[in-house]
Amino acid sequence: MRIELNVNGTLHEIEVEPRTTLLDCLRDLLDLKGAHAGCEHGVCGACTVLFDGVAVRSCLMFAAQAAGTPITTIEGVTPGPGELSPIQDAFCETHGTQCGYCTPAMVLVAHALLADNPEPTRDQIVEAISGNICRCTGYAQIVEAIALAAERMRGANRPRSLSK
Ligand code: FES
Ligand code: FES
Repeated sequence: MRIELNVNGTLHEIEVEPRTTLLDCLRDLLDLKGAHAGCEHGVCGACTVLFDGVAVRSCLMFAAQAAGTPITTIEGVTPGPGELSPIQDAFCETHGTQCGYCTPAMVLVAHALLADNPEPTRDQIVEAISGNICRCTGYAQIVEAIALAAERMRGANRPRSLSK
């Protein structure tokens, strides 16, 4: 079947099988390898993408279900080639990334959280990432990264006269 997917602001007209998952479509047909295949049955969260701003597991969706809804992958959150988003930057700074397998998903979950709640508590951050497994168990640094990014992003939105 022929579908049109809106990924990172670009429309792609592609041919998929009805059974093709969104994860396989992103990785194999659109060459967007940032969504990782971990368990491929909804447990690990490595395949997370944003579906109209909401973090979803792309291994549990058919590509055809995603037609017509804006999808953001990790490739879509960078400001420009070779640049990092404030959240990615904070992950580097706090060593929130180790092997990196869970990282794109964690960063996208953080984007969804901070878009909805710019000033999350530590517990809210922990809850937001609770569906995502980090096999390197670097959870403390991931929570720290998201808290740091939140603080910086709030500062960036503050009028200059109120900035320290
Ligand atoms: S690969 Fe989708 S949840 Fe694990
Ligand atoms: S950094 Fe290795 S799985 Fe999370």
